[in-house]
Amino acid sequence: MLAEQINTAEFDVQILEPTIGAEIKGLDLRHPLTRADRDRVRALLLRHKVLFFRDQHIETEHQLTFARQFGELYHHPTTKKQDLERPNAHLILGSEAKDRYGEARKGRWHTDTSWMLKPTFGAVLRAVSLPETGGDTLWADTGLVYRALPAALRTKIDNAFVTHNFKSSLDKADYPYPIIAHPLVRTHPETGEDALFINFSMAPQILGLSLEESADIVAQLLKEVSNPEYQVRFKWRPGDVAFWDNRAALHYPVYNYGDFPRVMERVLIADDDIPHRRGSN
Ligand code: SIN
Repeated sequence: MLAEQINTAEFDVQILEPTIGAEIKGLDLRHPLTRADRDRVRALLLRHKVLFFRDQHIETEHQLTFARQFGELYHHPTTKKQDLERPNAHLILGSEAKDRYGEARKGRWHTDTSWMLKPTFGAVLRAVSLPETGGDTLWADTGLVYRALPAALRTKIDNAFVTHNFKSSLDKADYPYPIIAHPLVRTHPETGEDALFINFSMAPQILGLSLEESADIVAQLLKEVSNPEYQVRFKWRPGDVAFWDNRAALHYPVYNYGDFPRVMERVLIADDDIPHRRGSN
């Protein structure tokens, strides 16, 4: 049951890395935000791409209420039947990370629901059960990555489209959906920043190129995304919450905790505006 109290606290912002990651201090996510605070959090999200809220210890209902203040919630088709009482809250189990990514580190940099024509704009992730050590998450600033690419590579990818293939998981969930392609470089609809948009967990293939040429470019992009200079790394503690912008960052769950049953709960927020192909708006 949610308290009626409105969150009126002044809050502070601690910037974690120059372009990505900030910790918000002084907000209690058990209570709804004032309109002014909500607008400020949204502006901070656009600026820092991922926000962290430590020591919140909230429940699913609070997480849903918090996320709903930023847009319509999304129901992921692979959400497990046992979660359907609250269809917008999706449990992410460490054992699934193992099945999905195995030892293939290259497949872990991703953005959520990019397999859809209109992917979700944001995600709110809550730690439910954490290993004592390990299980961090990294985010990479895809605008910064794009700007750091050699000019010749940027020219090659500026008008390219790349596939996002989630078909095998969707087939298992009995959810027919075509394999789609998005522009590889998109302009953020709110900030106007050009950023890379690729999902390394969804077999990216650049359209119109030979398989070899596509694989070569994808490998170059992965190398760049993997550069720590574009990243923020979050060491989860019990009670922590993260909120990120899928249009401006990729994320990477670190799988280094063996069989520990790490559990996170994620709420996705639907997009209200599709990013444009670079230069088309
Ligand atoms: C995700 O990949 O959406 C969740 C990240 C994590 O489990 O750390």
